[in-house]
Parts: sequence; structure tokens; C-alpha cells
Amino acid sequence: MLEQLEKLRTEALEGLRAVADGAALDTWQRSTLGRRGIVTLITRRVGELPKESRPAFGKRANQVKQELTAAYERKATAVKADEMERQIATGAIDVSQPGRPRPLGRLHPSTQVLREICRIWGDMGFQVYRSRDVETDEYNFQLLNMPPHHPARDMWDTFYTTQEGVVLRTHTSPGQIHAMHDYHPEPIRVILPGMCYRYEQISARSEIQFNQVEGLAVGKNITFADLKGTLSSFAGRLFGAQIQTRFRCQHFPFTEPSAEMDVECILCSGRGCNVCKKTGWLEILGCGMVHPAVLRHGGYDPAVYTGFAFGMGVERPAMVKYGIKDIRYFWSGDLRFLEQF
Ligand code: PHE
Repeated sequence: MLEQLEKLRTEALEGLRAVADGAALDTWQRSTLGRRGIVTLITRRVGELPKESRPAFGKRANQVKQELTAAYERKATAVKADEMERQIATGAIDVSQPGRPRPLGRLHPSTQVLREICRIWGDMGFQVYRSRDVETDEYNFQLLNMPPHHPARDMWDTFYTTQEGVVLRTHTSPGQIHAMHDYHPEPIRVILPGMCYRYEQISARSEIQFNQVEGLAVGKNITFADLKGTLSSFAGRLFGAQIQTRFRCQHFPFTEPSAEMDVECILCSGRGCNVCKKTGWLEILGCGMVHPAVLRHGGYDPAVYTGFAFGMGVERPAMVKYGIKDIRYFWSGDLRFLEQF
């Protein structure tokens, strides 16, 4: 049997020398060293030998196995290198070919307008402050001067979660309280951009999710004149220096006095069209002087500090800017829509 083993070894080595490609190498490996390969089979027959010659045979069988394995590995490396060379030679990789362009993504129109708004506020000295999307009833309403059952809550149709007292924020205003807690007692100039959620009937003009950019300034001697001047200056930077603005009285529980700012309709220059419903004005944001109770909830003494706050949508101005007729396009995920921006 020892002779058989030696013969097998010589034949295997010869066979390996003849191997020229990966497929032949695999076959050789399987039939020689594999689980059903001849080397394995012959070592299994050791039991047929008389007891005294078994150790010598076993030892030799192991040597042969190791030698063949090493030879196989050397050959595998060589075959791989050969194949690579052949591929290059036959031009399977043509390095002179021009590259294929990778499809490039683009920024969502909301993101583009959001970034534009953030950049303008940044230029005006306002830092971005990130606040959470999932809020407690306390922050979304109570600390903003709306105790449970307050009628003003009806302005924000709310998504409640299965967790008692946890809601999806209906506006970015709860971030005002977080910012005040973080900054106290320093003065504040921040904007808070982010997604808001409302349990509303989806239509061409309203969606259940949309972006807002909140703004908050707190300090000593901040007046309503500062609010008007700052917001008008912002409108000029976003829509062009010539744009007219107007402030209308409004009510928000967390600001007093409160207002809404309109800009002259940029589509009809104030003459009246379908977008501005023939009024010549577009509503851009809600704003007001931070309510003393809200300042107190944020840790600021309303006898010493004052401040103003505002909240603006992002998708509505984007619709005006790009002439988008239906707000539902924004989250439809339709590439035909998105690829236009
Ligand atoms: N949070 C208000 C809204 O969602 C907007 C607002 C913000 C009004 C800050 C006044 C001050 O409509």
C-alpha cells in the first residue's frame, strides 16, 4: 500500500503540473485532496495493514498530504496571476475606455430652501439649534402657555403616540423652551429648523408633515421694533431687497403681542393672482414677543429679559419659488418631480 501511495503522489504531482487554468485546478483539488479525493481514500484504508506497519504508513501519508497541499497553493497563486495576465493581454479590461458616469443624487427642494433660509439667518447672527421631533405634551403645549384643554390647541391637530403624554411636535416652538434651558442666562439668537407633524386632511395645500424654521431672540431691551426690522430684513434677503412686507395682528398663546408677516406676492408683484387669492399678499410666518410666562418657563426673568420669536414654513415658500402647484409632490418620492430641482 505504501507503494501505491508513492505512485499516487507522483501521479498527482504530474497531474498538477499539467493544470493550466482555474477550472482544471479545482477538479484536481477535489479529486486529490478533497473529502472523496484519492489521498483521503487511501489513508482511510490504513486498517487493512498489519498493525506494525500502520504508524510508518500514517506518517508518510501525512507527509504526502502536506506536500500536495503546499504544491496546490503554489499552483493556485500562479494560475491566478496567469489568468490576470491573459485577461489584460486579451483586453478584457480596456483601460483606455472612458469611465461610466455614476448617477448623481440631488438635494430635495425642501432641503434647498431650508438651507437657503438657514444661511440667511446665519449671516444675521442666528445659530442653528437642533430640537427633537418627538415631544412631550408638556413642551409642545403646556410650557408654551397651553394647559390641557386650552382651546388654542385646536390650531394644531396632533398626532398622539401610544405613550401617554408623548406627541409628534406640531410646530418647532417647543424647541424655544429647550434652547432657553440650554442658554440661560446668556442672550439667545437661534433658529430651529425641522420637521413638524399634523393630523390633517391631506390636500393640495396641506400635508401631515412639513418643515418649519423657528427663530428665537432673547436678551435685554429687545423690542417689537427689533422683531419687525429683523424679519423685514430677512424677507429682503430671501426675496430681494425691494420686497414689501406687512404685519397683521394675530393671536398665539406663547407670544404677546403676536402677528403674522405677509410679503407682497412675488408671482404677481401685488396685483393679485390665484396663488395669493387675489389679495396681493402671501403669508410667510407667525411671530410675536415671547410671552412672559414662556420666558419664565425657560428660566428667564420677564422683568429683566424680553425676546421675540417667529415660525415660518418651508414648503409654502418653496412652492411659490418654484411654481409648485401641489404640496403632495414633496413627499411623493416621485423622481420625475425631484429631478427637476
Ligand atoms: N408655532 C407657530 C405655528 O406653528 C408659529 C409661531 C412661532 C408663532 C413662534 C409665533 C412665534 O403656527
